Amino acid sequence: MQTHEIVIIEGDGIGKELTEASLFILKEIEKKIDSLQINFKFRDAGARFYELNGTNISHETLEDIRQSDALLKGPVGLPHVRFSDGTEAGLLGGVLRNGLDVFANVRPIKLLPGVEAPLKAHPGEIDYVIVRENTEGLYLSRGRGVGNDSAMTDTLMITRKGTERVIRFAFDLARRRSGSPKSKTRRVTCVDKSNVLASFALFREIFYEVASEYPDIEHDCMYADAAAQALVMSPSDFDVLVMENFLGDILSDLGGGTIGGIGLCPSGNIGGKHAYFEPIHGSAPDIEGQDLANPISQILSAGLMLDYLGEHKASELLSSSLYMALDNGELKINAIGQPERGTRHATEAIANALLELY
Ligand code: IPM
Ligand code: MN
Repeated sequence: MQTHEIVIIEGDGIGKELTEASLFILKEIEKKIDSLQINFKFRDAGARFYELNGTNISHETLEDIRQSDALLKGPVGLPHVRFSDGTEAGLLGGVLRNGLDVFANVRPIKLLPGVEAPLKAHPGEIDYVIVRENTEGLYLSRGRGVGNDSAMTDTLMITRKGTERVIRFAFDLARRRSGSPKSKTRRVTCVDKSNVLASFALFREIFYEVASEYPDIEHDCMYADAAAQALVMSPSDFDVLVMENFLGDILSDLGGGTIGGIGLCPSGNIGGKHAYFEPIHGSAPDIEGQDLANPISQILSAGLMLDYLGEHKASELLSSSLYMALDNGELKINAIGQPERGTRHATEAIANALLELY
């Protein structure tokens, strides 16, 4: 039996209540599955940490994360905590995604049972994964914008190495899935703006090269603007999508909107050596501590982490309990994506379903 060493960063705003919810569920699962053992190490980082220490994460914490099996992280950032260039100081995307070289940002978009989504679709009809390149693209310019108060530029960088590895990741992921809801065919869709920018033309060229190594997986390409429309009008067509960092940031929130809100959306940041798991949304300080936040994004992020750790049975138990709580109405998500009877009640509903299932 292997003990998993996990670092927890609660984060800012609603981060504390969300990570508490996910830890509660993880500990319940640990009680049920004898072979599952997790050690948790709590570390502080983010906007509040920056206010106190003048840096958003310490070298020691980064080292602890490198030594661990994975990091489970709440949302970070507070709108008023800013660097002098105007960008947010509490965000850890640059330091963690580049620092740990976690190049694939995996963002499942799945319509869950019992959720009132703005689209006319049934559970099972929206189930795709956006693989967002996580270490380059437009966000490589983070902290490096050039200009003055009259003009600023940010540079979008696409490299062959960075593109090949994330596209391979997307095809490998498609091999492990069962295809798009509509046709059940395994497919990777490349999303870009290669009609306008040379950087995206290179991305697409590399996509075709890598696709030829995967004759068992279908592939196609779409321009990002057309993809935005298609994700709303025909989401059942999609299986795995791969795209540059900035496009993936935008289109994954769009996808989240179609399935009831980004409060339901988990993510994994995965590289060759390290990985961390977090909701795709921010820290919502306006609802902090009011028992209003939706814990599903964080709990599903813990589920993705279990999968990454090879604990597939535990991960399956986690998702089945969530689906059951949503199915039997114990857990209800309202039209603005919040749990009807609060964060704690939502977490208990999932834990109760878990007891019934196991
Ligand atoms: C996300 C978040 C971050 C990002 C923000 C908070 C910097 O929105 O993970 O999508 O844009 O990468
Ligand atoms: Mn985002």
